[in-house]
Amino acid sequence: MIAALRDLGAVLITGGAGYIGSHTAWACLDAGLRVVILDNLSTGVRHAAPPKAVFVEGAVEDRDLVHEVIRTYEVGAVLHFAASTIVEESMVDPDKYHRNNTLNSFRLMEAIASLGGMPFILSSTAAVYAPSPQGRLTESASVDPVSPYGLSKLRAEQLLAGTASVFGFPYLAMRYFNVAGADPLGRTGPSARSATHLLKVAVQAALGLRPTLPIHGRSHDTPDGACVRDYIHVSDLAQAHVHALAHLAGGGASGVVNCGTGRGASVLEVVAALEAELGRALPTTNAAARLGDVAYAVADETKLRQLLPDWTPRYEDLGLIVRSALAWERHMLAHAAI
Ligand SMILES: NC(=O)c1ccc[n+]([C@@H]2O[C@H](COP(=O)([O-])OP(=O)(O)OC[C@H]3O[C@@H](n4cnc5c(N)ncnc54)[C@H](O)[C@@H]3O)[C@@H](O)[C@H]2O)c1
Repeated sequence: MIAALRDLGAVLITGGAGYIGSHTAWACLDAGLRVVILDNLSTGVRHAAPPKAVFVEGAVEDRDLVHEVIRTYEVGAVLHFAASTIVEESMVDPDKYHRNNTLNSFRLMEAIASLGGMPFILSSTAAVYAPSPQGRLTESASVDPVSPYGLSKLRAEQLLAGTASVFGFPYLAMRYFNVAGADPLGRTGPSARSATHLLKVAVQAALGLRPTLPIHGRSHDTPDGACVRDYIHVSDLAQAHVHALAHLAGGGASGVVNCGTGRGASVLEVVAALEAELGRALPTTNAAARLGDVAYAVADETKLRQLLPDWTPRYEDLGLIVRSALAWERHMLAHAAI
């Protein structure tokens, strides 16, 4: 175990039955930490939570339950993944996003603060940034979210900074870029039935679970006209959370930090990587650009590497990301879990 984590107690992972939360639960267990998951299963699936983690079905906004969980399991840090996460849905139902991502997150922060506070890590997003022409985004780039989803997360960040400063506990708001892939050991992966993330949809099209992969927008201001994103492997991101906990437990600075690789890949490049892995062409169709989609979002990840010097990403290659996503979807198919 990383030395700074030895006296931390258990880690509360909200949203631990979801995609990134379940990978992080495994990473924490692998690091020797005790894990308690709190999830209302609104999009998560029970079997995604590692069997060794304590699982509590419930909502982050339930203050009494949060207090009970913290006391019962001697929780010493919080990783807050639970949220509503679909950008397009937020354009038509913004209230849902402000309620679940801002208000419910604040209720959780207040519940933690009322017990004196503890290291707190919030899942934030690159969607907080203003659309920018090509160029990597640093944490000081201007924030001006295009979508209610991005705004709901920005407000949660701001509430966290305020609450943490008033009650004196350390925090990080980790701004993920595009999270992709699945656990290389096959223990978890993107398990929700409805998928909107490119790679999950592409892999489903590759396996015949969808007739075609829609390419949303071919005339963006990017080199090949398709959206460019920074894809970070979910297991590298999960591991970054373990190091982020150690950073905070060891007295490291609070603040916001980008989580990406610093390299962009266009939708067409992701499709090409998948086709190379499959050895055949993928059925694609051109579709309208999606509401709330920006053309280009790539991280400047310098701060992440400075903050977490011992964190070494292992799956940065797009081919590895694609391979793990394909393996997981085949596993789901074989187990009829879709
Ligand atoms: N997937 C990405 O590429 C990406 C990118 C940027 C940021 N994020 C952020 O990462 C976090 C995790 O995203 P994900 O892709 O794993 O999503 P997900 O939908 O797979 O996981 C979210 C989990 O939270 C649970 N949940 C939702 N509201 C809850 C509540 N009020 N109380 C208790 N549980 C609740 C859901 O049941 C689900 O298990 C989110 O905060 C999201 O905004 C994700």
